[in-house]
Amino acid sequence: MQIHQNFSLKNYNTFGIEAKAKQFVAVHTLDQLKSVLEHHKNDKKFILGGGSNMLLTQDIDALVIHVDLKGKKVLKEDENFVWVESNAGENWHEFVLWTIEQDFGGLENMSLIPGNVGTTPVQNIGAYGAEIKDTFVSCDAMNIETQEMKKFTKSECNFGYRESIFKHEAKDKFIITSVVFKLTKCNHKISVEYGDIKAELAKNNIKNPTIKDVSNAVIAIRQSKLPNPKELGNSGSFFKNPVISREEFLKVKEKFPDVKYFEISETEVKVPAGWLIEHAGLKGYRNGDAGVHKNQALVLVNYGNATGQDILNLSKYVQKTVFDKYGIAIEAEVNVI
Ligand code: EPU
Repeated sequence: MQIHQNFSLKNYNTFGIEAKAKQFVAVHTLDQLKSVLEHHKNDKKFILGGGSNMLLTQDIDALVIHVDLKGKKVLKEDENFVWVESNAGENWHEFVLWTIEQDFGGLENMSLIPGNVGTTPVQNIGAYGAEIKDTFVSCDAMNIETQEMKKFTKSECNFGYRESIFKHEAKDKFIITSVVFKLTKCNHKISVEYGDIKAELAKNNIKNPTIKDVSNAVIAIRQSKLPNPKELGNSGSFFKNPVISREEFLKVKEKFPDVKYFEISETEVKVPAGWLIEHAGLKGYRNGDAGVHKNQALVLVNYGNATGQDILNLSKYVQKTVFDKYGIAIEAEVNVI
């Protein structure tokens, strides 16, 4: 295991931002991870997965540990279900495609989400009507201080919309090393309620979709709306969709009758930040190399040489413009470092 000094992280974050790590090491086994943690007990550490949900606004004055644990396997199965374990460093989308090839159902709606398996529980990733918590069983994590392994069950993870214990009590204390999902072997629960999927399937004349059809539909929708980080630096949705009180929502709806929304509860409504940003006139807005994506206003992009600070400034401008227009505060979903 080589420890690199003053190491560029440009290829390790999907925004493609140039920032340096004081030290950098990639670990490929649990033993390597344990040994790095033991030998660097007193050093500041920064854990890096797929780098798909962070904005680097400065160099990292720490030892960056890139969790590159590969491997996936079937743990057990019964007549109807299969328990599949993936190590943290597997690419999420490749893992999803592998489950679909085996005809294991449950992850298809989350095709093509960037990032690695190990970071999916952190923000309970979700798309097109599915969230990781729907199929998640448990994850193993290494305690950074003691190097002991701990299993987090689903209920211990406190999953919520883009939320989990790993953003709160367990933050900076554990490194997720593997995740177990319970998937269907038959009678797959096909979920096409999310409007875009239905339309995409209808376009292709598919009436009884398989999990593969759903995955293909999601891939087509994402490719049409969301920029590929390999071509245009980005971190997926930059903001969370704000959840506001019904009272507050009714005021907004009165002024903006076309506003889109999702019902959350009797008292709360979720409003798509993409709609708010677009209708504040910022879709496709660009300042230097930092921009709001032209097809999905929730996504901020790096046209080439934007710095993390440029993207951060743009995000603040978007937040302020949205607040001034609707009185709604939108929060960043990505971790700003
Ligand atoms: N909308 C606009 N303008 C835009 C974007 C969206 O008017 O520029 C409207 C759409 O027309 C639609 C509504 O907002 O009526 C919702 O749009 P969309 O289905 O594209 O989803 P989203 O709420 O903008 C969320 C997730 C995405 C996920 C999609 C699909 C969050 C923060 N984002 O976006 O997740 O792919 O739903 O399920 O919840 C990510 O987290 O990185 C991500 C891409």
